[in-house]
Amino acid sequence: MDNKLIIFDTTLRDGEQSPGASMNTSEKIQIAQQLEKLQVDVIEAGFAAASPGDFDAIYQISQIVKNSSICSLARAVDSDIKAAGEAIAKANLKRIHTFIATSPIHMQYKLKMTPDEVIKRAVNAVTYARTMTDDVEFSLEDAGRSEMTFMKEITQAVIEAGASTINLPDTVGYRLPNEINQMVKQMVDFVDGKAIISLHNHNDLGLAVANTLAGIQAGARQVECTINGLGERAGNAAMEEVVMVLKTRKDLFNGMDTNINTKEISRTSKMVATITGIEPQPNKAIVGKNAFAHESGIHQDGMLKNAETYEIMKPEDIGIEENNTIVLGKHSGRAAFKDKLSNLGFSDIKDDELNSSFERFKILCDKKKDILDDDIRMIMTDEKLNHDKIYEIISVQISDCSNGVPSAVLTIKHDDKEITDAGIGDGAMDAIFKTIDRITGYQGTLIDYKVKSVSEGKDALAKVTCKVTFNDDNPAMIGHGLSLDTMIASARAYVGALNSYLSMKDMLKKGTTHQV
Ligand code: KIV
Ligand code: ZN
Repeated sequence: MDNKLIIFDTTLRDGEQSPGASMNTSEKIQIAQQLEKLQVDVIEAGFAAASPGDFDAIYQISQIVKNSSICSLARAVDSDIKAAGEAIAKANLKRIHTFIATSPIHMQYKLKMTPDEVIKRAVNAVTYARTMTDDVEFSLEDAGRSEMTFMKEITQAVIEAGASTINLPDTVGYRLPNEINQMVKQMVDFVDGKAIISLHNHNDLGLAVANTLAGIQAGARQVECTINGLGERAGNAAMEEVVMVLKTRKDLFNGMDTNINTKEISRTSKMVATITGIEPQPNKAIVGKNAFAHESGIHQDGMLKNAETYEIMKPEDIGIEENNTIVLGKHSGRAAFKDKLSNLGFSDIKDDELNSSFERFKILCDKKKDILDDDIRMIMTDEKLNHDKIYEIISVQISDCSNGVPSAVLTIKHDDKEITDAGIGDGAMDAIFKTIDRITGYQGTLIDYKVKSVSEGKDALAKVTCKVTFNDDNPAMIGHGLSLDTMIASARAYVGALNSYLSMKDMLKKGTTHQV
């Protein structure tokens, strides 16, 4: 049996279905580029028919990413498949992933279709998808609660229609590992090498990774997973966990391997957490803040004598540097800065990005004693995330809030003009946000607000993420801001969310303009 496991990443599709994780196109492009560096085999970049924003992100990612296959999800209906085909048309490697539910409960109540009608719809979908790409995946939605006889019947029909991957989602996270193992065994025997059996496990009972591993042991050769385990409800199987289990316990998986460059895991996890604003819990396996921290004296003593006493993986294996080094200082030049960026994995930087990030680095050097790798990383991520500077914060001044009415004076740049205005609020932050609303003319409602320090120490950079709706429009937009001053970081994050909102509106106005 083939010993290569295909890693199908659905962070940008199922992951984006995590409450509060919606991303805009430039954020999705950044993540897709990082997933390519991580060497995932297939990137499910979205659900083209879901919205013009989804379509646009898939369309753009298809033209940028070269080494991973780009996939769009599509219901088993012609209009979805057409949109998926158009969105991935320019990709180097492309796949359409179409699905229909196969469990009695879904067919009867959700689809209101007979099993025969479901098979017919599935066959039509796969046949049509094959006119746009040779690589078609078919999912039996809710396979975890479907009947084996029917699963075999529909699988045979879609393989004959041209599907080469059969995905068996445990859509509601209901199954236990031994059950998944049995289901996969039967399906692997049934397809007899004519298609790859894939898994897609949800984590409702906390078993997504365990179920995925049980399925691999039974012969599945593709797994669908997400970074940090993001996904609908309790999420999907976490890619970093599945990959590191295979690497650490090769003995139990017949040497099964993936193409993943594990040294990019930590960086990818941090990027996804920054962009979505969803941090993994500190004790999360592999990528949690404490995953490699040893607190107890006995453990620390053992670690000093031999790291293998308490460590089954090395932090370096997932790309965590030994120490978050002090990197550069105020006397460092542009060349040294550029060199550092490339060591940190930021290659192909455009000149304007280099100029503005170097300028921010210099300003930081004047204010902060030690500049760490994480500081540089954050500046770069922030530059990329706040690329659309429709409105730009120039300055923020806060009045003394301890007595009197909190007020803020802000200067914001828009269309090459600087506008200054003042406003009051229920607190300093409220005053800042209200003043931004006054200056820009958009009415924002703050849905969520998070502040986190990038490194340690009193002079650490503050990273603010806020989620805002504007003019009562949905969905809420996420903005990010970075500064030594939390107030300035907050103003930047709020304006970042506004810029995303305006870019989205602009794109919707233009409509789906891409033609193949
Ligand atoms: O959970 C699920 O069933 C899905 C399918 C669309 C693959 O996400
Ligand atoms: Zn799912």
